[in-house]
Amino acid sequence: MGAMGRGRQLLDILKLASDYLARQGVEAARLDAEVLLAHILEMDRISLYVNFDRQLDEAELAGFRTALRRRASCMPVAYITGSKEFMSLDFAVNEHVLIPRPETEILVETVRDHFVRTSKERPRIADIGTGSAAIACSLAVLFPNARIIASDISSEALDVAMDNVKRHGLEGQVVCVQGDLLEVLAPGTEWERVDAIVSNPPYIPLAELDTLNPEISEYEPRGALDGGPDGLRYYRKLAQGAIERLADDGFMALEVGDGQAQDVIKILEDAGFTNVESVDDYSGTARVVVATRSAVSGSTSRNGIVADCIDGGDADA
Ligand SMILES: C[S@@+](CC[C@H](N)C(=O)[O-])C[C@H]1O[C@@H](n2cnc3c(N)ncnc32)[C@H](O)[C@@H]1O
Repeated sequence: MGAMGRGRQLLDILKLASDYLARQGVEAARLDAEVLLAHILEMDRISLYVNFDRQLDEAELAGFRTALRRRASCMPVAYITGSKEFMSLDFAVNEHVLIPRPETEILVETVRDHFVRTSKERPRIADIGTGSAAIACSLAVLFPNARIIASDISSEALDVAMDNVKRHGLEGQVVCVQGDLLEVLAPGTEWERVDAIVSNPPYIPLAELDTLNPEISEYEPRGALDGGPDGLRYYRKLAQGAIERLADDGFMALEVGDGQAQDVIKILEDAGFTNVESVDDYSGTARVVVATRSAVSGSTSRNGIVADCIDGGDADA
């Protein structure tokens, strides 16, 4: 990076930066160098090439060097630039929130398709564990008549969520609330029953946390990743009591980790949900599990109904 001094043209600097990142083991070195330089110069990537002979001033060079050093120490590009695109919208991110992933767009699309199919006009939606509010804001933009509660247990995450709600002018539609999972859907409030509970909960099994790529394990919040000993802790918790919080024909849509779909389907079936099925992502991996509260689901879990039949009604009360 020492050679990256004043007097050099933008394209030379880009080449030096990309060589530096490659030597530091960064996989997409050229792309990352371009994104970071475009960020420092407040232009889009294409404009770098239009301005190939531009020279950088001292402040720009210093900013770029700092960004490159951070990237070389595995900080994700999105945390360096402070933003990430999701569903064609730009979201503010920092180290208190998970960086929204492309596969989570499958979750948003699954919810969208469900509401389009059922012609729901004014859906009430809960996004539990909202992080940056990427899911909540995307759904609010897709459904301008929707009311959405976006909740997180982390107050720092909720600050980022509220920034993003403002950034997209969605204050009238999205309410951010701090709380533990479904407790935010409190009886006696507008959120007592919702049409959809949507969540991308923490789902990495505890033992795998430290084997993750350092970009994730060293920078992304542990509370957004840790799914307990088998990765399924939050699915079990969400399944408990979810039916009671859903309107008739309401549904739950959950993102799942690789290989978790069958376990999550079983958890939701055992909780009394019907039409429980998975939706694949573009690589053919089951990525989302959707489950409906049918009119007969009531508030009794499937285990409860079975036990009632066997024991004449006293069991599992
Ligand atoms: C995997 S991240 C998902 C973030 C965001 N929804 C997304 O898809 O990019 C999980 C989120 O759940 C939050 N969380 C963890 N435990 C929670 C709890 N008990 N109640 C509510 N939110 C929780 C974390 O703080 C984190 O923001």
